[in-house]
Amino acid sequence: MTLKQFLTKKMNFFFFLISIFILTTNFAVSRTDLNKEELKKVNNVLKLTTNFNKAERSESLSGGAGTVDKIGRNAYSHHFTTLSFEDRQNFLIGNGLFRKLWIAAPASTISSDGLGPLYNARACQSCHIKDGRGHLPNSEKPLSLVIKVGKYNNLNLTSDISYGKQFQFFAVPGMTSEVEGKIVKNHLSTWLNKDLQINYKNIDFNIKNLNFGKLDKSSSLSLRISPPVYGVGLLEAIEETDILKKDDEFDLNGDGVSGIARIVKNEDGEDSIGRFGIRASTPNLPIQSGVAFMHDMGISNYLATNPYGDCTEQQEECYNFTTGINKNENTEVNKEVLEKVVFYLSSLSPPKRRNVNNKDVLKGKEIFYKSNCTSCHTPKYVTSKNAKFDFLKFQLIWPYTDLLLHDMGEGLADKNLQGKITNREWKTPALWGIGLSKSVNPRATFLHDGRADTILQAILLHGGEAANSINYLIKNHKNDLEKLVKFVESL
Ligand code: HEC
Ligand code: HEC
Repeated sequence: MTLKQFLTKKMNFFFFLISIFILTTNFAVSRTDLNKEELKKVNNVLKLTTNFNKAERSESLSGGAGTVDKIGRNAYSHHFTTLSFEDRQNFLIGNGLFRKLWIAAPASTISSDGLGPLYNARACQSCHIKDGRGHLPNSEKPLSLVIKVGKYNNLNLTSDISYGKQFQFFAVPGMTSEVEGKIVKNHLSTWLNKDLQINYKNIDFNIKNLNFGKLDKSSSLSLRISPPVYGVGLLEAIEETDILKKDDEFDLNGDGVSGIARIVKNEDGEDSIGRFGIRASTPNLPIQSGVAFMHDMGISNYLATNPYGDCTEQQEECYNFTTGINKNENTEVNKEVLEKVVFYLSSLSPPKRRNVNNKDVLKGKEIFYKSNCTSCHTPKYVTSKNAKFDFLKFQLIWPYTDLLLHDMGEGLADKNLQGKITNREWKTPALWGIGLSKSVNPRATFLHDGRADTILQAILLHGGEAANSINYLIKNHKNDLEKLVKFVESL
């Protein structure tokens, strides 16, 4: 044995020991909200099925006992059926705030002002259209998407010194707007396995004018279509240990899939798992909403306190504008407003599934499981007994996400202005309700930047860690792809 072989052997043994350590510590950490008996039952319920002859028990109730059975344009906009009378009133107030069109200060309606000076939209609902996803613009200014701008430091996108966290396409009267440009969609097609053609779009942002100076060539522009917001209360109610179970950054179990649980800070400065945002950058709904108020609309609140929003020090003229801060308040909206919006989001039910016992749907489900789509799109969870609201507690839910980040390959990666890849990681999106996307918003498309017009395109464009799944799928089920799509559409 040469010295090199000896060392390699030693190293392998070393890695083996580490794996055992990590696996055992992973197993050792289990939920603290359940007693032994309950834990056993829950683990039993959460086992992946191997019977595809009929639907599982409660499989159609994606959001648990209170799941809403409605289709059509408003399918995503209903609260759980299990809300109390008082909660229904709070839902209505929250809904009003989510749809409210904010205006620039000073205004006669003080409680509606504070917009800007730079902003992307005037209401949450303008982006999260009917509580569902946004879309790519045709020739109009981009409204229901965000373009993050800056340099990557691992997963973190650091703010640009002139433009801040993201481009704002709108500004209040008198303020210079940040950028003018156009979203371009290049229609492309590619061949998979030499005999399956996929059409898709390559989405680019063609900058015409940058009004506050040049961008560094190593900056990335990361375009993200607004994701849907129903069911997010249930995602927040998943126990951390259930997410960490699948965290496998170094792919120690060797299945080619290496999910990362992103660790971010919560409002108390403690480490928490990132669950929200396309790259899991925020840990909970209050922070996600607070940051949305400030960065997307320029409205300060107790969790994101700058009344000038995403304005940078280079954008001096911002600081000449009146803020919407009124007497006796430190921010433009108060804590109660933010809490009502969070309550609204928490109460939005994912839609009930359709056709769960249809033969093609069941066949498609089998293909989904056999192709190992479930390694990232985790079908089910039982939510925490300590969830924030009663209607979210201890529910069997079917979101089809692990909330982890995955390398999805070069094709989907973010690139910098020189075309170099800067980040390939994306959070697995929940798939519940996806089949109704186009009935809620006929212009809806799929994947983080909306490049896929159909669900099939979205699936076939998976690369990186999902490549094994797609290769298996094409090799074994090329003639049954529409059944897989029927299953995904039934979600
Ligand atoms: C300009 C469009 C826009 C506006 C306005 C907007 N959002 Fe968003 N929202 C987005 C985008 C884009 C993302 C993904 C962000 C990311 O990748 O970090 C997002 C993410 C979210 C998420 C996380 C969803 C998930 O499953 O990860 C929630 C919740 C949310 N927004 C709530 C709100 C609320 C509440 C408001 C109003 C205060 C709001 N948003 C305003 C575009 C918008
Ligand atoms: C390695 C993890 C992984 C595997 C395996 C995987 N996915 Fe995904 N899936 C993702 C991620 C991450 C995204 C988001 C990618 C993006 O937006 O660019 C995604 C996006 C999707 C979308 C689009 C969702 C939306 O809201 O736009 C669909 C549909 C989908 N996956 C279905 C499938 C199916 C079917 C399979 C099995 C053939 C599969 N996925 C396997 C991680 C995975």
